[in-house]
Amino acid sequence: MNLSGNQASADASLETYQTIPKHVAIIMDGNGRWAQQKGKLRTFGHKSGVEAVRASVRYAREVGISSLTLFAFSSENWQRPKEEVSVLMQLFSLVLKSEVKKLDQNNIKLKVIGDTSALDKKLQEKIKKAEQKTENNTALTLNIAANYGGRWDIINATKQIANQVKNNALLPEQIDEALFNNYVSTSGLPELDLLIRTGGDHRVSNFLLWQCAYAEFYFTDTLWPDFNESIFAVAVADFASRQRRFGLTGSQIMTLDKKGSEPC
Ligand code: IPE
Ligand code: IPE
Ligand code: MG
Repeated sequence: MNLSGNQASADASLETYQTIPKHVAIIMDGNGRWAQQKGKLRTFGHKSGVEAVRASVRYAREVGISSLTLFAFSSENWQRPKEEVSVLMQLFSLVLKSEVKKLDQNNIKLKVIGDTSALDKKLQEKIKKAEQKTENNTALTLNIAANYGGRWDIINATKQIANQVKNNALLPEQIDEALFNNYVSTSGLPELDLLIRTGGDHRVSNFLLWQCAYAEFYFTDTLWPDFNESIFAVAVADFASRQRRFGLTGSQIMTLDKKGSEPC
C-alpha cells in the first residue's frame, strides 16, 4: 500500500509511537465549510472528502490500527436540505461500488453501523453484499456509521436486552457493562481508544456515546477534505504521548507499565 505525499513526517511520528491505538473513530467534519471557502457548493466538499477517507483507511491499515470507525451520516443529518441528503446517499452508494473490491484486496472488513433500515432498499442490499464479501478479512475492520446516533445505539441495545429478559433468557441481575457491550453496534471490537474530530468544533454530536467512556479525544481545525496521513499520524503520536489513567493515579499507572500489564 502506498502512503504517498507525507511519508517522511509520518515515518518520523511512527518512531515516537509507544502505543498504536487499537480502535480509532473519526468525526469527519468540515466538508461544507471547505467547499464554501472555495466558492463552491457544499456537496463539492462531500465529494472531495472521499479522498481523505481513502487516506485514513490506508494509514490505519499501514500502522496496524485494528478498527477504524468513520462517522459518515448522523441520525440528525436527515434534517439537512433534501438535495444535500440525496447527494450524500448517492455518494455513499458510489463509493461502496468503487471501493469494495479494493478493500477486499487489502484484507479489510467493512461494516456499516447505524439504523440502516431507514436507508434506501437498494443501498441496504449493496451494504449487505459488501459486508458479506469482506466478512472474513482480518487486517482492519472499517466501520462506516450511517444513520448512526449514539443514543439510538444505546436504546437499540437496551431493547434487545429487554426482550431477552421478557423471554426469560436473561435475569436483570445479569446485566452488566460487559453484557451491554455485546449489544451495541461495536460489539466484538476493541474498546475505543482515540476519537478524532476535524473541522474545529469540540463536541461529540451524538457519536459513540457509550463507547467513548475512556477514549482520548483529539480535535483539529483541519477541515475534512484536507485531512491526510500526516495529520492522522500527528493525532496518533499525540495519543501515544498521553498517560491514560482509567481512574488510577499516575504512579499506579507507572508501576503497572513497568510490570507490562494494563489496568483494565
Ligand atoms: C461533515 O461535513 C459531513 C457530514 C456531516 C455528512 P459537514 O457537511 O458537516 O461540513 P460543515 O461542518 O458544514 O462544514
Ligand atoms: C457530525 O457532524 C456528523 C458527521 C460528521 C457525519 P455535523 O456537522 O452533523 O455535527 P454538528 O451539527 O456540527 O454537531
Ligand atoms: Mg458539520
